[in-house]
Amino acid sequence: MYVCICRGITDSRIRQEVANGATTIRELGARLGVATHCGQCGPHARAVLAEAVQEIVTSDVTGGTSVWEPAA
Ligand code: FES
Repeated sequence: MYVCICRGITDSRIRQEVANGATTIRELGARLGVATHCGQCGPHARAVLAEAVQEIVTSDVTGGTSVWEPAA
């Protein structure tokens, strides 16, 4: 589903960037351009980001496979 219409960014693309280490909306903005034009997608992008980070943290806790490493 599209999250950012201005930049054509989907929730899947945000989740991919979280898997690659993005943990803040600022990082998503720098990497993908999310919420850097009109800003209307900011709240939804933050929600997808939080959900994706939580899924990775939960996966780590439960022993699921994950490639995500928190920033030092
Ligand atoms: S919808 Fe994301 S910047 Fe406009």
